[in-house]
Amino acid sequence: MSRYFDNELIERIKDANDIVSIVSEHVALKKKGKNYWGCCPFHNEKTPSFSVAPEKGFYYCFGCHASGNSIKFLMEIEGISFVEALEKLANRANIPLPEAKLSPAVRAREEHRKKLYEASELAAKFFHNCLLQTSMGKVGLEYLKKRGLTDETINNFRLGFAPDGWDRLYKAFKERGIEESILIELNLVRKNDKGGVYDFFRNRIMFPIMDGKGRVVGFGGRVMDDSTPKYLNSPESQIFEKGKILFAFDKAYKSIRESKQAILVEGYMDVISAHNKGITNVVASLGTAYTQDHGHILMRQAEEIILAYDMDGAGRQAATRAIELLQNTDFKVRVLAMPDGKDPDDYIRNHGPEAFRKLVDSAVKPFDYLLSESLIKYDINESEGKQAVMEAVFPFIANIHNQTVRDDALKALALPLWLDNSTIYRYFRSYIRKGNIELVSESQSVPKTIVSGDEDHLMALAINDNKVLQDIVNYLPLEDFQNIQYRGIIEKIYTLFITSGQMQGESIGEVLTPEEYEIYTRLMMLDVKEAVPVLIRKIRLHSLREQYKMHSIMADQLKRAGDSTFISELHKCQEIQSLIREWSK
Ligand code: CTP
Ligand code: MN
Repeated sequence: MSRYFDNELIERIKDANDIVSIVSEHVALKKKGKNYWGCCPFHNEKTPSFSVAPEKGFYYCFGCHASGNSIKFLMEIEGISFVEALEKLANRANIPLPEAKLSPAVRAREEHRKKLYEASELAAKFFHNCLLQTSMGKVGLEYLKKRGLTDETINNFRLGFAPDGWDRLYKAFKERGIEESILIELNLVRKNDKGGVYDFFRNRIMFPIMDGKGRVVGFGGRVMDDSTPKYLNSPESQIFEKGKILFAFDKAYKSIRESKQAILVEGYMDVISAHNKGITNVVASLGTAYTQDHGHILMRQAEEIILAYDMDGAGRQAATRAIELLQNTDFKVRVLAMPDGKDPDDYIRNHGPEAFRKLVDSAVKPFDYLLSESLIKYDINESEGKQAVMEAVFPFIANIHNQTVRDDALKALALPLWLDNSTIYRYFRSYIRKGNIELVSESQSVPKTIVSGDEDHLMALAINDNKVLQDIVNYLPLEDFQNIQYRGIIEKIYTLFITSGQMQGESIGEVLTPEEYEIYTRLMMLDVKEAVPVLIRKIRLHSLREQYKMHSIMADQLKRAGDSTFISELHKCQEIQSLIREWSK
């Protein structure tokens, strides 16, 4: 996991820290048997499915499958990097971390990022100060007051003002010894053709953008009249990835966690206006669309996402796209269609926070939203209109994994379109055929475990003991594992063992994929009492019987089709039969 610290040191730091006491700082744990149990901090639940195995140093959630060791736990729960988590653990255990272990390139990059953070922070202070303390900022302050913001909100969001002049920020920063290249990289200043440097944000209201930890990473700047562009935004930089940042998440996450609900809006002012009136579970995806990374940020805090986008063309499109990305995730999603085409900011200012909360309560399911949108858009008295409505909602319906739900959605089209069910099904089938779309059924999407507990048990023993691993490699063809992922895990751990002599610790995380690692930690939780030879024999026999079945069916079919190769299938059956006899002794 880390190229800069050797594995031995990482192991020593992990060993010196008790995972139960680390997790206990965030989760109330109770001992049951060998392991500890509590309510998972990574998803919402009322009955504990989060387990910690102190002897093995792992945690695993049987509900959301979050898993890992103490380093990963800190990374996830505190949103910190691997190195930061390691530092914390080293500090707790009084183990010095060698600075020199960081490669020069990594250290240089860290230094550089630090400068970017510092300059951004300083810029936020500069703009905020201009707004509140200078005569230049008066127009800005008046503007914000006119839009109904309180002093508290202005301070909380650290709103600011970029003065009207070509180089006020540049000069001030030059005096403080901030490197020009850093300012250029952050796009706080720009260079013209003649080499002159000028401020990028001028005469604008400034919205600082913070990351999840509250560090300033960029800005949005709004004009105070109708001129264009209405907003200028910082471009992406080493510290600012737009797809990974939700505006105001640093201020909203507590409230999102408490209410289990996140309201997603489009604009800076929508967020601020809501918080200004005490609705604090509101965040925005910065002018960009909702991304899957946003989902990952919210996933840990929210059960439900309310999409409250503007009801203009761009907003509707963004809502549709977000619905698509959120379909078949664990989120409950509802869509709020703002009445009279206004945005949340307008609505809250005109009608107050209580009215907005009522709107949130009345938000509808994505399908109902998509349907009612298209029923308004198209003339359903015409058959073209009916078809257009169907085409608008078919992508969503085709993507529903549960067949009953899918059927219900199709049937729901009958009444508003004045068509009978069979006509709708006919259109749907032709849509599926034309688009070459494969419908996913629930049983496909959630693979059933046909695997007996034996494989789990043998795996659990193997990942803890290299002798068991060796036995498996010697006596059990990997294909005998019905669980395909187990084959890969055994292969990888065994390779790791014969090349490094190790089969535990951080190197495991390097050779396994994230999915495999999750399985690995789940297996770590198991407490197995059965003997290895018994398990190997059971798995081998199960596999042989399956193979026998397959070949005899094959032989039967070939024979009936008059294909003489059925003989060779019969031979295989005989071979397998004798193997079964041997293994049954
Ligand atoms: N946006 C942008 N650049 C623009 C217009 C919009 O980056 N030229 C982004 C901003 O993040 C803005 C969001 O898209 O907050 C929504 O745009 P819009 O609805 O036009 O602005 P509002 O947030 O409603 O701002 P205001 O209420 O002040 O007009
Ligand atoms: Mn607005």
